[in-house]
Amino acid sequence: MSFPKGFLWGGAVAANQAEGAWNAGGKGWSVADVATYKPDTDVKDYKAHVMISSDAIKKAMEDTDETFYPKRRGIDFYHHYKEDLALFAEMGFKVFRLSIAWTRIFPTGEEAEPNEEGLAYYEDVFKEMKRLNIEPLVTLSHYEMPLALSMKYNGWADRRVIDCFVRFSRVCFERFGKYVKYWLNFNEVDSIIRHSFITAGIIPDLCGEKGELACCYQALHHQFVAAGITARLLRETVPGAQMGCMLTKLMTFPRTCAPEDVAATQYKNLENMFYSDVMVFGEYPRMILRDLEKRGFEIKMEPGDLDIIREGTVDFVSFSYYMSMTESVDPNAERTPGNTVLGVKNPYLSTSDWGWQVDPVGLRISLIELYDRYKKPLFIVENGIGAKDTVEEDGSIHDPYRIEYFRSHFKEMEKAIDAGVELMGYTSWAPIDLISASTNQMSKRYGFIYVDQDDCGKGTLKRSRKDSFYWYQKVIRTNGADME
Ligand code: BG6
Repeated sequence: MSFPKGFLWGGAVAANQAEGAWNAGGKGWSVADVATYKPDTDVKDYKAHVMISSDAIKKAMEDTDETFYPKRRGIDFYHHYKEDLALFAEMGFKVFRLSIAWTRIFPTGEEAEPNEEGLAYYEDVFKEMKRLNIEPLVTLSHYEMPLALSMKYNGWADRRVIDCFVRFSRVCFERFGKYVKYWLNFNEVDSIIRHSFITAGIIPDLCGEKGELACCYQALHHQFVAAGITARLLRETVPGAQMGCMLTKLMTFPRTCAPEDVAATQYKNLENMFYSDVMVFGEYPRMILRDLEKRGFEIKMEPGDLDIIREGTVDFVSFSYYMSMTESVDPNAERTPGNTVLGVKNPYLSTSDWGWQVDPVGLRISLIELYDRYKKPLFIVENGIGAKDTVEEDGSIHDPYRIEYFRSHFKEMEKAIDAGVELMGYTSWAPIDLISASTNQMSKRYGFIYVDQDDCGKGTLKRSRKDSFYWYQKVIRTNGADME
């Protein structure tokens, strides 16, 4: 068996990493607009890159320059979307995943009426996609909540943010429902405990005595409730539409077969899947609740919350997959960075320029594990490799390392499909170079399309096709039959 007929091949971006135009069209400040590029910080130390404080936010807001706030400029997809969508269409995209910047619709998150200019912008984008026959896959929340909600309420730690998000979602469903069938609620909902500000607008110095982690678990509960409400709302508002959850699949293997390593690994994987468990099964896993209780975390719930979660489960499960890691109880085990994690090094794997371990077989294992657990259609909505590219004198960009990364992962997807996994589609991260979520670099390039811009924003923004562009075009044209 190979890729099924109608398999949705495409690519994925997020508004805050691609659009730029951070203060155009009535847009308000988002948490991404204060994310700082830190050239002197080791790129393997993700925590130092995502660290934030009230003072840092204040300083960032006093500075309207874009040099060290790269997400303000992105790759200017806002003004280049027609050109970019045309390139995606040329590659043969069936689907394109994008997010809607909440602050283009509700600049502070609390306006009584949505911002018409923001709505009109996305409507134009969806019309263009329809014209090009590209199906949209829309993330409602991808690391770009209104900064005003973060500063006023400490983000999702406050229950009042649920209503703000539901209002935003309702407007999106009503206005864009005729164009969009596939929706995702929260990008990498599990990432809240790794970077609480980017994911949920939590500012650590506002967390008080309870501490940041307690705020994270409370915020998560609010997101679960919001996810339940919006899943039901989508069904009522847009018949036939589907809602998915989105998980960072941090596949962890035991470093050795010592039972202690295996047990520690089992916990890591259960913890990783806890978030999707809630949204798929409609209830908190008993063992996770028990663990939170033992660690002294008390989640405040209101009457009816658990009913909302039970009644608002998702239709499909989407996830990102970049790397795998191992776990060991040995405190001296050598570590290596991954997607906003520091895992134990696997001696059998190579690493990317940023130290992330490349493991295509881990993708097959993830697909089989998730399908076996949830028995819901799966969607890979992010997968790719951040690498340094070189532009040759004639303007060409040869990126065999990227082609090899994708080829090896596609072969494993094929094996998982052959094993019986129901896979709806695949969107690479990212089809076009954009600003890195964790390090705010431009030089960490993921695209099939090169964008002429450096880490400080210098460059013409000209788009060029890399070798991988033509390779992916062929893969899509043959529905995965020709990957050579
Ligand atoms: C995922 C995020 O975790 O990883 C994306 O959803 C992000 O927003 C991607 O860009 C790759 O991470 P990075 O830090 O290399 O951009």
